[in-house]
Amino acid sequence: MPLSPPIPILIVDDEADLRDLLVEALQDQGYAAVGAEGGSQALALVQKQHFPVIFTDLNMPGGLSGLELLRAVHEVDPRSMGILMTGYATTESAIQALKRGAYDFIQKPFKLAEIEAGLERALEHYRLVRENEEYQQNLERMVEARTQEILGLKNDIERLFEGFVNASVTAIEARDPSTSGHSSRVADLTVGLAEAVNSTPNGRYGALHFNPLQIREIRYASLLHDFGKVGVREQVLVKAKKIEGERLESIYQRLHQRTLEAMRDGLLEAWSKGRTFDHDTVGALLRGQDEEARRLMELVRRSNEPTVLPQEVLLELNLLEDLTYQHWSGDHRTLIDSHDISLLRIAKGSLSDDERDEIQNHVSYTYKFLSQIPWTSELAGVPDIAWAHHERLNGKGYPRQLKEPDIPVQSKLMAVADVYDALTAADRPYKAAVSVERSLEILEQEAKVNLLDTEVLRIFLEARIYDRTTGQSRSPR
Ligand SMILES: [Fe+2]
Repeated sequence: MPLSPPIPILIVDDEADLRDLLVEALQDQGYAAVGAEGGSQALALVQKQHFPVIFTDLNMPGGLSGLELLRAVHEVDPRSMGILMTGYATTESAIQALKRGAYDFIQKPFKLAEIEAGLERALEHYRLVRENEEYQQNLERMVEARTQEILGLKNDIERLFEGFVNASVTAIEARDPSTSGHSSRVADLTVGLAEAVNSTPNGRYGALHFNPLQIREIRYASLLHDFGKVGVREQVLVKAKKIEGERLESIYQRLHQRTLEAMRDGLLEAWSKGRTFDHDTVGALLRGQDEEARRLMELVRRSNEPTVLPQEVLLELNLLEDLTYQHWSGDHRTLIDSHDISLLRIAKGSLSDDERDEIQNHVSYTYKFLSQIPWTSELAGVPDIAWAHHERLNGKGYPRQLKEPDIPVQSKLMAVADVYDALTAADRPYKAAVSVERSLEILEQEAKVNLLDTEVLRIFLEARIYDRTTGQSRSPR
């Protein structure tokens, strides 16, 4: 049964009677049947309109044969299906016709019912092909839609990671404002170094190439390398002096109290011996004690500095060890307790061994934190790269004392960037900024003693990677 709107059918035959008969019969059946007397007229119609089925005579004098017509139609409208009609049917010609693109073959003379049956078969096939095409197109649209959806999700995940990494960097810097900008600068320097490695064709890393995903992995690892600092106590993280705050204040206060106690004792002793307290005697006593107090306070002040402790100051510290003062309970107690004395004896820097361990633990905290994140496979190396940023080639780094072959090359790049930025950074409480020139010299010394990778440093210097952050790490003073 024809569907509405009427299906266009083309009848091509040079025999007008037969053609008109067929056209009328099919029109009666509800088809939009049209006739053409030869190939060129048929082609002109096909160019204007789509005919799902075309009946054509095989032999038409003076023009295209039926098969030639069907071939030409196929060029214009490949979806049309051709049915050949001929009175010279042989098995061979039928096979030839079908091989050359006809859908079916009807032998003349035919009964109308044969035409109808052939047409219905062709239309059913046509419908199946169209359905299949539609299904295929739907499938393609669905695949495209799903692909877009997945790409959208992938973008969302990437944005999520990016946001999370930035938020984490903010958290690190809020914890330790003195290292503000350090994470981003180390990321800039390390990524710059990785790109410079990519464009270095010779040397030890000549064959090494980081693809864009690996570069992103390096960037995330660098941005997050110090995240573990959120697990380190703030007073240790930003410690500028060996003893600080109230603790230092109470040492000075006790030294002052000790002076008063000594004066009181001196006066009591003089009094018990019946001496008079003229102005000069009291003055001399006061001056003597005052000088002593000032000397001791200066000793505390000097030894409290994080710079290298001079030998004579170290020796003098023994004096402080035995000092006592009178506690309000009446007991005599040690003026500076053994813990504070040991802090003052730190030969260089402001940190005790325990505090140094605590700071160094930031690397393990970083690893613990990063390894809990379900990184995508492309970023799976982030925790390991960050974990090794304080390892040194000679095995003297921390926390695992890895040796050169076990340190990821990305961490070797990050180590150079990290040390360089720590040196040039302006606003650390425990050190002043070191000039770029001096910092580069220090890096070279560290490479010479096998702490940093010589080849990585060579690339860092030759490609002037350090220029990327010059000016950024200075305080805006
Ligand atoms: Fe670090």
